[in-house]
Amino acid sequence: MKRVLLVFGTRPEAIKMCPLVSELMQRENIDPVICVTGQHREMLHQVLDAFHIVPDYKFSVMKERQTLFDITISILELMKKLLADIQPDLVLVHGDTTTSFATTLACYYMQIPVGHVEAGLRTHDIYSPYPEEFNRQAVSIISRYNFAPTESAKHNLLREGRRADSIFVTGNTAIDALKTTVRDDYRHPILDWAQGSRLIILTAHRRESLGEPMRQMFHAIRRVVTEFPDVRLVYPVHLNPLVHKIAKSELGDCDQIRMIEPLDVIDFHNLLARCYFILTDSGGIQEEATYLGRPVLVLRDKTERPEGIDAGTLKLIGTSEESIYRNFKMLLEDPAMYSAMSNVSTLYGDGFACKRIADIICAE
Ligand code: UD1
Ligand code: UDP
Repeated sequence: MKRVLLVFGTRPEAIKMCPLVSELMQRENIDPVICVTGQHREMLHQVLDAFHIVPDYKFSVMKERQTLFDITISILELMKKLLADIQPDLVLVHGDTTTSFATTLACYYMQIPVGHVEAGLRTHDIYSPYPEEFNRQAVSIISRYNFAPTESAKHNLLREGRRADSIFVTGNTAIDALKTTVRDDYRHPILDWAQGSRLIILTAHRRESLGEPMRQMFHAIRRVVTEFPDVRLVYPVHLNPLVHKIAKSELGDCDQIRMIEPLDVIDFHNLLARCYFILTDSGGIQEEATYLGRPVLVLRDKTERPEGIDAGTLKLIGTSEESIYRNFKMLLEDPAMYSAMSNVSTLYGDGFACKRIADIICAE
């Protein structure tokens, strides 16, 4: 029996690891142990509830306005003890968060093998996104198994000198999650509110955008929305108080804009599937929207998900007010551009990533 410890702590990691937890639970030769660090609190619990996952170990490292030092130090300390207690054969981490980086570092110190889910994504600029690009590169140096979602992620790893026999192209587990959440008979008050209008979804939270870039983003978005009476925009605001403050001052008091609490993953995926298009600085939403055939204007200067850019479903529009104003307006006004960006695509996965990852772990 192989003891596999899965460690995650934020909303996106949970969305992409919960389907893998369910898959591993069905395997006879695997003993999955689930640990959540609590880097996020409410936003993490929403996902665990939606997927009915009960962690074996539940920590709560989150502090309001936590720094990267706070998260790294807390997780290193708790992992030192947990790894010694559990003695796992393998630890699985996901993506690019500080939970994943600090857990991987602890595993390295204790010489425990790590499997990295969603390995090989790169912008090659360690300050964009910050600190995610550093986190994922650092995890790759240590990880024994690299579960790359796409061929291009695999090539990034090979170019960095990772061993070919450590890399497995599996697809992204985000698509496995989507296959269980999107329903035909779905209803939500936001859909009633937006009935007869074009519904745009906005999300924004990146650390490097906090402050002036985020203010410019929101200013441009409000200008465009008010010029198009047939547009309704919903913004589930990230719980970071710094994001809240800017959102409230730039987007508040507009009848066409609804700022709401973070949606649970089932609501969010179903709204994503029904919206007109998305404005986001998120990583995972770029993959999900591409699978659902929803165009995305990416509020960032760089993306680690170039496949969607090449296929034309994603467009990088940066964070400056002028660029966001121009591109947002263009996509509302230009049906040819809209139709070219609306292709459904399995570029990021076909919904069987968890099965492939579990097969590989069982076979080793
Ligand atoms: C973190 C990850 C980022 C990931 C993002 C997904 C790091 C350094 N950052 O960024 O890679 O893209 O999650 O959302 O790993 N907060 C709450 N409740 C919650 C969650 C957050 O109140 O449930 C507030 C807290 O004040 C917290 C702040 O948000 O201090 C920021 O959270 P943090 O995890 O540090 O950064 P994120 O921007 O969420
Ligand atoms: N998401 C959600 N509720 C929301 C907003 C996003 O469940 O209100 C989901 C979304 O479907 C995606 C993930 O959260 O799977 C993205 O999280 P986030 O943007 O916080 O992180 P990133 O992907 O940028 O790391």
